[in-house]
Amino acid sequence: MRLIETVVEMKAACRAATRAGKIVGLVPTMGALHEGHLSLVRAAKSHSEVTAVSIFVNPLQFSPSEDFEQYPRTVERDSTMLREAGVDLLFLPSVAEMYPAGARTYIDVEVLSSRLDGGSRPGHFRGVATVVCKLFEIVRPERAFFGQKDAAQVALLRKMAQDLDMDVEIVVCPIVREVDGLAMSSRNAYLNAEQRKQALVLSRSLQRVKAAVEAGETVAAKLFEIGRKEIASELGAKLDYFAIVDPNTLEPVEKVVPGTLVAVAAWVGATRLIDNIRL
Ligand code: PAJ
Repeated sequence: MRLIETVVEMKAACRAATRAGKIVGLVPTMGALHEGHLSLVRAAKSHSEVTAVSIFVNPLQFSPSEDFEQYPRTVERDSTMLREAGVDLLFLPSVAEMYPAGARTYIDVEVLSSRLDGGSRPGHFRGVATVVCKLFEIVRPERAFFGQKDAAQVALLRKMAQDLDMDVEIVVCPIVREVDGLAMSSRNAYLNAEQRKQALVLSRSLQRVKAAVEAGETVAAKLFEIGRKEIASELGAKLDYFAIVDPNTLEPVEKVVPGTLVAVAAWVGATRLIDNIRL
């Protein structure tokens, strides 16, 4: 595995691979890797001849009040995991390398960027779209791999790729969970033992909604109430949003259909967690 810290060197390595006729797959991450990230790496490995992973805690997607400084950074451990997983190129740029002083260009996917997490985290998706656009241009992957865990991010990036005629296939991989149902997340590391139990309310609220749908309920307002009540039943959790939406437009639906996205975000202590299911 080659460790690369500069844009020039990463471009050269990726262009050389493409010129040699190799299919390049990209997995963008912010590090603090867990099984969820590794499932993307495995998918990338099985669909590519050269697998590139980026680790970059992107300041542009954190607001000043968020956890950019505290975000877990475990680069040594991450690179060992990625080497063992058979990754070819590990891109580890610094902030100055990605955003040299004077950079003035941003990607704003209108409307989508203010839905779900974009509603509670203004500017977040502008930062995500900008960094992913840059990574796509640096690597020019045939395919890029993202997790269903961040369902709104997936919708936004698909729209960006479509609107900007990008030659990249966006592949979405299922949510990897702990045995008790908690969706894996780098931010789970912030939870203490009690909060770790309280955090289960997110996946439980989604399961309640799924069960109601299986029992015949299709009215989104009723399903919303079931989800909201479940979150309210856990005093350690505070609801940010509970949304029943079209998975592509992220627009609320009145009646659910197969494929409808049910997404939840809640605070457990000072940690904001997200989870979702597709019906
Ligand atoms: P990060 O949170 O590190 O996640 C990197 C990728 O791993 C994302 O596509 C995310 O959806 C996926 N992922 C995280 N937890 C997962 C789980 N439990 N199961 C499956 N996939 C999971 O998402 C980001 O970083 C950033 O916004 C990024 C796209 C890298 C841009 O900065």
